[in-house]
Amino acid sequence: FAFTPANQEWAEAQITKYPEGRQASAIIPLLWRAQEQEGWLTRPAIEHVSEMLGMAYIRGLEVATFYFMFQLQPVGSVAHIQVCGTTSCMICGAEDLVAVCKERIAAKPHELSADGRFSWEEVECLGACSNAPMAQIGKDYYEDLTTARLNEILDELSEGRVPVPGPQNGRYASEPL
Ligand code: FES
Repeated sequence: FAFTPANQEWAEAQITKYPEGRQASAIIPLLWRAQEQEGWLTRPAIEHVSEMLGMAYIRGLEVATFYFMFQLQPVGSVAHIQVCGTTSCMICGAEDLVAVCKERIAAKPHELSADGRFSWEEVECLGACSNAPMAQIGKDYYEDLTTARLNEILDELSEGRVPVPGPQNGRYASEPL
């Protein structure tokens, strides 16, 4: 693994933001950039980032495995669907959303769809409980989901369109910022 020249320059600039001896604090932004570059975090990518920060690989791996925003196996080339399965979402229909993912994408979480374009997983609370059930796709939240709307979103993504994120029924729990 190697960062692209632009990412390498960006990563080195991040490291300088931290006091001498605290470079390891840059681990999350660097891992995130490596994931953005490759689509997921390969072992060589974690090794490279750890080495840049003077950390043992195992310490880099500890961080990468702690947060579910880091993907340690390939994800769909078009979208990775993260369905919240925690209490509010579970009560409001998360299991039905998971059923759509199983039917449309793959039977098991983290498996790629047959065409390699989609993957899914169930995650813990994403902090949008008042608009449950919801899922994160890329960096966007899709809230107040129904199975019908999730099916439409998957159709839109398949066709190369970008579904409009946010509450899918137009309901905001509070005024939008
Ligand atoms: Fe799903 Fe909090 S329980 S966002």
